[in-house]
Amino acid sequence: MTDSRAATVLAYHTRSKHALDRYAAGPGTLDWDAQPKAFRDWDGAQRSALPRDIVVSDITWGELPASRPSLPLNGSNLGSLLRLCVALTAWKEYAGSRWSLRAHPSSGNLHPTETWLIAASVAGLEDGLYHYHNLYHGLERRAWGRAAQTTGAWLGFSSIHWREAWKYGERAFRYCQLDMGHVLAAVSYAAVLHGWKPHLLLRSAADIAHALGSDRAEDFVGVENEEAEVIVALHATDTALPTDWQHWAGKPGLLDARPLYQWPVIEEVAHATRGTPPSASVSPLPIPARDEDIRAAQVILKRRSAQTFDGASVMPQTLFKRLLTSLLPGGSPVWEMWPHVARVHPVLLVHRVEGVAPGVYALPRSGAAKEAMRAAFRDTFTWEAADTESPLFQLIAARAGKTARTLSCHQDIATDCAVTFIMLAEFAAPVAADPAAYRHLHWEAGMLGHIVTLEAEAAGWRGTGIGCFFDDAVHEVLGLQNDRFQVIYHYAVGMALDDPRISTLPAYEEPI
Ligand SMILES: Cc1cc2nc3c(=O)[nH]c(=O)nc-3n(C[C@H](O)[C@H](O)[C@H](O)COP(=O)(O)O)c2cc1C
Repeated sequence: MTDSRAATVLAYHTRSKHALDRYAAGPGTLDWDAQPKAFRDWDGAQRSALPRDIVVSDITWGELPASRPSLPLNGSNLGSLLRLCVALTAWKEYAGSRWSLRAHPSSGNLHPTETWLIAASVAGLEDGLYHYHNLYHGLERRAWGRAAQTTGAWLGFSSIHWREAWKYGERAFRYCQLDMGHVLAAVSYAAVLHGWKPHLLLRSAADIAHALGSDRAEDFVGVENEEAEVIVALHATDTALPTDWQHWAGKPGLLDARPLYQWPVIEEVAHATRGTPPSASVSPLPIPARDEDIRAAQVILKRRSAQTFDGASVMPQTLFKRLLTSLLPGGSPVWEMWPHVARVHPVLLVHRVEGVAPGVYALPRSGAAKEAMRAAFRDTFTWEAADTESPLFQLIAARAGKTARTLSCHQDIATDCAVTFIMLAEFAAPVAADPAAYRHLHWEAGMLGHIVTLEAEAAGWRGTGIGCFFDDAVHEVLGLQNDRFQVIYHYAVGMALDDPRISTLPAYEEPI
């Protein structure tokens, strides 16, 4: 059973690779006017507004690691948390078009991830399951009616694959999973700011789908379905998750009335990768204190992906080292929520960093990975230790800007940035042992990207995710001969050039 599911995953991964001479199957034409709706309404579900105040706006980015008193679980504090992880952060306007941005990035700004809140004995909220409506920063009550036997708040997430598949075809499942990783990282930063200790519920895919109502097939007839992903408990106490609601309301709105294509392989790989999140396997290390005075909420709310980098700025060594240590266990609050042995390891193409020779570097995030990478990589790589504070190794000194651009689907951002990160996953063994690892590896890569992006933002720099890369061309550069390791994400960090033609409007009408 696991074997055939793993085979499905491997087949999907192979066919969804982009190659220098062939892109993965996707739509031949795109009708931008027919883009699936970015926001789902639950028609008939009672809607209520959440408070918009950010209650932790005085905490600086440098203070973030310190453990803080836990704020009470109530509607105001949950509203504040949601603002800092999944809410809108701005509207953008250019030449008559308008689009919104959120606290986390998303491939193509298509935002496949839907957010759910399960509340039990939370002041200001009736017990129930709620759909979070990002557009209004409000809740739609999906289910209720159960005597509270517990206290807690849980965030659940589901993906609507079609939002991504509409544009990206078969590769879209990967993007949904990378997005999910960004969302999880965003939740951990927002939670730690509120003094909460989030953790992933170790529940089966069926239990998660049941808790979020995404298994209620009758409700999804004729509309895009939602694939349940994961539930995060916002408090450390492991109280029972309420699921057996007496009343349900609401019908999910249709997002695309005329889908032009179908990509059945996405539902196949989704099915093959249903499973339980990995259980904790390492103890998180304390996060070192830092000294940035910028407000943490400001870092989160002003985060943007660079669309263009200046191609010239040299990254200060302090920021470079910060990026590296934040990716290691204990380097970011994210690793408290994801206390697992690291299985995704960055390879860095350094273009312009103060005191660091341009070249290709590896940052194995575990001791075992270093040996495995060394054995699998090209034997001409030198593996010279390149940093005293992190396991950074120079593989080869080289100007790798053109290579970075070529490997990243010829995108200039990969060469005009200061550093391109190639997120390399331990692949064949984890997927064979548990096909659900395919999702979890992408989540881990998304988390790495999110950490890098927020750390860069705090220092006045910027990051951009790169989901488009030529998989096997990357493997060839590194000398990889099989699928023991596979590249699953790229990330560029550099000094952004803003486009002055685009204007920025507030996310919600009232000032923050
Ligand atoms: C998984 C993922 C893949 C992405 N791939 C690319 C890419 O290949 N090229 C690019 O220019 N931007 C890429 N982006 C950046 C998105 O376009 C960007 O996040 C989106 O437009 C929203 O803008 P914002 O991040 O400023 O909120 C990617 C983002 C994510 C999360």
